[in-house]
Amino acid sequence: MTPVGSALEDVTTLRDRYAGAGQEHVFRFWDRLDGPSRERLAAQAARLDLAALDAARTGLEASEAPPERLEPAPVERLPERGGDATLRARARACGEDWIARGAVAPVVLAGGQGTRLGFPGPKGAYPLGPLSERSLFEILAQKVRGARRRHGAALPWCVMTSEPTDAAVRRFFERQAFFGLPPEDVLFFEQASTPALGRDGRLLLEAPDRIASCPGGHGGVIPALVESGVLDALEARGVRFLTTFQVDNPLVRVVDPVFVGLHALRGAELSCKALAKGAPGERAGTLALRDGGLRVIEYTEIHPEHRDARDADGELRFWAASIGMHVLGVGFVRRVAARAAEILPFHLALKTIPCLAEDGSPMQPAEPNGYKLERFVFDALAAAGTTACLEVRREEEYSPVKRPEGPESPATARRDLLACYRRWLAAAGRPGSGDFELDHAWIDGPEDAREFVPPTDETGTATGVTA
Ligand code: UTP
Repeated sequence: MTPVGSALEDVTTLRDRYAGAGQEHVFRFWDRLDGPSRERLAAQAARLDLAALDAARTGLEASEAPPERLEPAPVERLPERGGDATLRARARACGEDWIARGAVAPVVLAGGQGTRLGFPGPKGAYPLGPLSERSLFEILAQKVRGARRRHGAALPWCVMTSEPTDAAVRRFFERQAFFGLPPEDVLFFEQASTPALGRDGRLLLEAPDRIASCPGGHGGVIPALVESGVLDALEARGVRFLTTFQVDNPLVRVVDPVFVGLHALRGAELSCKALAKGAPGERAGTLALRDGGLRVIEYTEIHPEHRDARDADGELRFWAASIGMHVLGVGFVRRVAARAAEILPFHLALKTIPCLAEDGSPMQPAEPNGYKLERFVFDALAAAGTTACLEVRREEEYSPVKRPEGPESPATARRDLLACYRRWLAAAGRPGSGDFELDHAWIDGPEDAREFVPPTDETGTATGVTA
């Protein structure tokens, strides 16, 4: 949360501010705390923006709203769904040009706690490779290396961490020698944490000297890029565009020339990728126009009337799901960061949050007992003058790892990754047999397969492919 006070703020004034905001209970163990613990609590409390907290709490009182006025989002559709293949080709050429000039930086959002997956470590360290057990970070790093090779540019890779993931992520990269990337081309930065609220809107304590807090949502990337100085460093290196993506999707195109090019051709400030929903109730945000502006409506917030609406052909009217991949202009990031409190409101997510009971004993609740406060990148759409939206193919670009089993699990991501490998080799006329993996630093699509995979040998096995 934005620092608004100083750790040295007089404790009486600080407590008065908290009392005024109905949060005095945060200091209820004050008399038992020793000097360093008091300092810790006072410093944390002084940094919290109580006004932003209050604005978020009003969400607790929101009533059932009538359906808002939405129109389908204008999306550049895939050629097989009526999209313009010539425009895509122009966008690709334009994007390739910007990327080759070193004007694009990939940014991975790795600040989440991955609670649903339950992996003991940062999610990016999850051993996803179907045979090799390469981690998600290694797969992404290979893709970054591939993009550097393909476009002949340094493409500094920005890695956003958070308080709970920062040390472990940095250690992981160091132990793996930065996956073969020059360490000076990997830029870590940490997003801010936000406090957790009980169901009654009061702050929760996780220890007598600590307010419970969590990473503040992927939207924290915008202020964090500026506050960490990473944006300055990128600009000094000539970067004009950032492409942001989630840490848990091994199919992601970390730097996609068509996406960057469409963003640049349209003169957009913020661009999104879209997928056709598999079902109306898919747990993904919906891209739609609200009052003429592109927005993402969360699956928890879309009215059933819109969610289930179909056109005359029986197709979903609001078919476009957002998959957390964006292109942002550097100037736009700076502008939004300067007005983050207004442009990126905190959303409340009901969660199970370990905390202290009234008497100070630790509690591990069985049921959701409070709210995490999260900012979302896509809220910045409201501040963007021009936007662009590109439809992509699910089987080529999106298969995230969210939970241990079932849909969106390691098993489905591995299956989809292997299916990509087979398709790429087959499209290149070099079908592979048996189980194999590809090194994304060399082969990240059919064009690479054509260039780097030797023709199949007499047994039909593609030679030169990592098995
Ligand atoms: P998710 O919303 O899927 O969250 O994040 P998660 O942390 O991975 O998993 P759960 O919900 O706790 O099970 C989507 C992407 O946004 C990043 C995540 O790391 C992931 O890449 N993220 C999320 C952040 O960078 N910071 C956050 O505060 C939250």
